[in-house]
Amino acid sequence: MKKMQIGMTGIEVPAVAVGCMRLDGVDRKKGEALLRGALDMGLNFFDHADFYGYWKNYVGICEELFAEYLPMTPALREKIVIQTKCGVKIGPDGKGGMMNISYDFSKDYILRCVEDSLKRLKTDYIDGLLLHIPDALVEPEEVAEAFDLLEEQGKVRYFGVSNHTPMQIELLKKYVKQPICVNQQKLSLGYAPIISSGEYVCMPDERALSYDMESLNYGRLNSITMQCWSPFHGAKGGIILNEEKYPELNAVLEQMAEKYGTSKTAICIAWLLRHPAKLQPVTGTMDIQHLKESADGMDITLEHDDWYKLWIAAGNNTRA
Ligand SMILES: NC(=O)c1ccc[n+]([C@@H]2O[C@H](COP(=O)([O-])OP(=O)(O)OC[C@H]3O[C@@H](n4cnc5c(N)ncnc54)[C@H](OP(=O)(O)O)[C@@H]3O)[C@@H](O)[C@H]2O)c1
Repeated sequence: MKKMQIGMTGIEVPAVAVGCMRLDGVDRKKGEALLRGALDMGLNFFDHADFYGYWKNYVGICEELFAEYLPMTPALREKIVIQTKCGVKIGPDGKGGMMNISYDFSKDYILRCVEDSLKRLKTDYIDGLLLHIPDALVEPEEVAEAFDLLEEQGKVRYFGVSNHTPMQIELLKKYVKQPICVNQQKLSLGYAPIISSGEYVCMPDERALSYDMESLNYGRLNSITMQCWSPFHGAKGGIILNEEKYPELNAVLEQMAEKYGTSKTAICIAWLLRHPAKLQPVTGTMDIQHLKESADGMDITLEHDDWYKLWIAAGNNTRA
């Protein structure tokens, strides 16, 4: 199994992380099978966020279910790496879709989020804490105070962000003394502007505009692990696998699956892992077979030209 380090923490994890956002969408049998199956495969790195579950059920249910399906004995806790996120704030009635969501990186709110996550996850510490979605009103001094306290109290081992630009991270770094070890962004073979924007500079083409402000190269320069959320999603919506919306891509995925003796799922993961930035896909599947296929992607190293064949089939390298 391909392993990697989170930032410069020395914490070694599988190159594929298991996302828990959809845990509330399946029944207990399936959820337990997924989590236990992940551990049996050696996938011991789990990605959460405090507010997962809000869309279908309620804030925190995914963390709760996780601790229910994998009872947190000391022996188990030692074996797993838990990352969660904070800073998305849901209004008091707990319902209302996007209209009820705001972002809050104040010291008190970060600390409250962590206490709630610890209770739900039934653990004394979280391995990694990410600031989920940028708070326009962020006071980085407050983030720094919260991180200092959480570190001192042994409640969090490493810190990171999600959906942040390099300048947002720089602003945090002016005050936060702990390294920012992770930036989690939406990135897949079917949706890769973070990678592709650099290729369009010579065209010229509006796709050269880097909406994420070069977070990939910034991460490489600063030893920040880039985690890829929604690793099977496509630019035209939905997932790319076996979808009519992505015929060219599926045709090349099939060729590659045959060439490397594996599944299309594994090729999607291998495509991300072939990038020298040491990307870490975060899967969202609740299907144990799909998770196994994703894990297979860690054993495949795509040839340079095959990486580009897939990238082109995904709609890149075209003139607007
Ligand atoms: N930081 C952020 O802002 C952010 C945002 C969103 C998500 N995330 C994280 O990223 C994780 C993944 O997100 P996601 O669920 O949107 O990503 P995803 O892995 O791209 O999508 C998962 C969906 O694809 C389906 N799928 C169908 N065929 C599949 C196959 N062969 N292999 C794998 N999946 C297949 C899954 O259904 P089945 O269950 O039937 O396989 C599931 O509904 C989340 O769990 C969460 O931890 C982070």
